[in-house]
Formats: sequence, C-alpha cells, structure tokens
Amino acid sequence: MATIFKPDCMADRSVFLAGATSGINLGIAERFAEEGARVFVISRDAEKVARTVDTLKASGGQAAGTACDVRDYDAVDAAVKDAADQFGPLDFVLAGAAGNFPAAAIDMSANGFRTVVDIDLMGTYNVFRASHPHLRKPGASLVAITAPQAERPYVMQSHVCAAKAGVNMLVKCLALEWGPEGVRVNAISPGPIEGTEGMKRLAPTPEAEAAVKANVALRALGAPRDIADGCLYLAGDEARYVTGTILYIDGGVVLGNGRF
Ligand code: NAP
Ligand code: COA
Repeated sequence: MATIFKPDCMADRSVFLAGATSGINLGIAERFAEEGARVFVISRDAEKVARTVDTLKASGGQAAGTACDVRDYDAVDAAVKDAADQFGPLDFVLAGAAGNFPAAAIDMSANGFRTVVDIDLMGTYNVFRASHPHLRKPGASLVAITAPQAERPYVMQSHVCAAKAGVNMLVKCLALEWGPEGVRVNAISPGPIEGTEGMKRLAPTPEAEAAVKANVALRALGAPRDIADGCLYLAGDEARYVTGTILYIDGGVVLGNGRF
C-alpha cells in the first residue's frame, strides 16, 4: 500500500503502549515496530504480553513488555520506569486499554460502572501521569484512544460514554499543563473497526454489523492500520504543532446519521 510515511520513520524512538496486546492497539504496536521504534507493551495477561513481544521481535522489531493492570498506579509506574530504563526517554505513549460491555445503567452494579471508568479514565490518567518523569522533553507525544461515545450518547453505554468523555477532557487539560514543556497530548477517536473485541461486543451479529455500517457516513468499517497511521502522524515531527486535539478516524460516525 502506498504510504506517506518514510521507511523507519520511528527509528530511535522509544514507545510505551498500554493495552497493546490485541485489536486496534496491537495494530499500533506492529506499525511502530515496523517503522523501527523500540516498543514496550503492557496489558493484564502475561501470556498475551509474551506473545505480542515474540511477534514483534519475530518480524524484526525491538520489543519488551510486562503484565500490568492500568488501574494499579504503582504497577504502571514500575512498568514505565522499566521501559525507560531499557529503551531510554519515552518519545510516544499510548493510553489504549479499555473495557466495554453493553448494559443499561439500571442493569449494572455500581462496581460495573466503576470498573469501566477505572480502566478507561483512571487508566489513561495513570499511564500519562506515571510516564511524565520519563518523557523526552521537549518532543514527547501522548495519545489516548477515545471513542464516539465521548461525544454522542448511546443506550447501553452510559459507563463508556461517561469514561471516554472524561478521557477527552483529560487530554485537553494535560495538553495545557504539559505544553510549556514541549509535551503534546492528543486523542484519536476510532470509528467501528473490523475484527475487534469492541465490535464483537457491540455488534455481535451480521445484522448488527450492517446496522452499525448504516450509521457511518462512509458506510464501511475501519481497520487497525487506519488508527496506527494516525498514531504515526501524531508521534511524528509533522504534528509538532498539534496538541489538545481529538483526531477522528471514524468514517464520519461521530457526525451521527444526519436524519430528522
Ligand atoms: P481489545 O482488543 O479488547 O483491546 C484492549 C486491550 O487493552 C487489550 O490488550 C487488553 O489486554 C488491554 N486491557 C484491558 N483492560 C486492561 C487493564 N485493566 N489494564 C491493562 N490492559 C488492559 O479492544 P479493541 O476493540 O481493539 O479496542 C481498543 C481501544 O479502541 C479501546 O480504547 C476502545 O475503547 C477503542 N475503540 C474501539 C473501537 C472498536 O471498534 N473496536 C471503536 C472506538 C474506540 P488484557 O486483556 O491482557 O488486559
Ligand atoms: N453487564 C452488567 N455488568 C457487568 C457485565 C455485563 N455484561 N460484565 C461485567 N459486569 C460487571 C460485573 O458484574 C462486576 O460487577 P459486580 O462485582 O457488582 O458483579 C463488574 O462489572 C466488574 O466485572 P469483573 O469481571 O470483575 O471485571 P474485570 O476487571 O475482570 O473485567 C471488564 C473488566 C468487565 C470490562 C471485562 O469485560 C474486560 O476485561 N474487558 C476488556 C476487553 C474489552 O472490554 N474490550 C473492548 C474494548 S472496546
């Protein structure tokens, strides 16, 4: 596929990717490794971490990782330090871990609601806050993975909508606070991405998937590579003046279906 990115455009960059052992974020890890970055991944499941590190190394990348729950600040703090010790000051940090299940507010417990807020919002705070002492300053780029739920209300998604709305505002606040140090903080808002856990949970049947597509302006699902390329852009020097932005890579889904 033709690409605007120069080969090895991430050479000599150290990246820390939270929640990058499956789906969209694994696609991001693979893309950064392909472009020469040193890639450190975390997620809860040690086997998934080991498999991801092996896969990245097998395709010629430099990779390491550790099992870590983004809800545990001390564990995240240790993981980020480990990454910086092995790979040097962090040029790019991804907060991509998330939890989702479809449930009406009345059908979930307070712990169910809190669990998603803890993973998505607190997890993003924990990853960004813990990484701060280890960032390359100036120059580091931080990206949170948000979702259309941050801006559009959906039934069965009150927990995710509340959590991701918090992520969008957190990104903008940190962009203001850390901008003077030359640290950029942005979010990418993916639309429905084919073959992912998120789609399996929210649109588990062909009929549900067709209904999702009908609400996307481009009438198509995206691919993990679409989001990975957005990360490469935000990590790169081309985005040196971009901060506090929500980059929509969503086929237009955040626009709604536009019908009266
Ligand atoms: P996924 O495959 O389930 O990926 C989630 C990743 O986060 C996995 O690596 C998972 O690994 C890790 N994770 C989950 N809970 C964690 C925790 N507490 N601590 C550390 N790691 C944790 O999901 P996906 O569908 O690709 O979604 C990825 C991101 O894109 C999410 O932020 C999601 O909100 C966003 N998004 C997805 C879509 C979509 O269509 N799929 C659309 C819009 C936005 P472990 O299980 O090993 O922890
Ligand atoms: N409906 C209502 N409540 C639910 C639920 C559902 N479908 N699934 C989980 N919950 C509730 C549980 O009942 C529990 O509440 P309780 O203690 O009051 O019973 C609470 O959520 C926590 O569940 P638990 O299974 O202990 O959480 P966990 O930390 O092991 O897992 C989840 C977190 C629930 C978000 C799990 O789905 C997960 O690990 N997701 C990661 C992958 C993912 O969601 N990918 C898509 C990203 S878009």
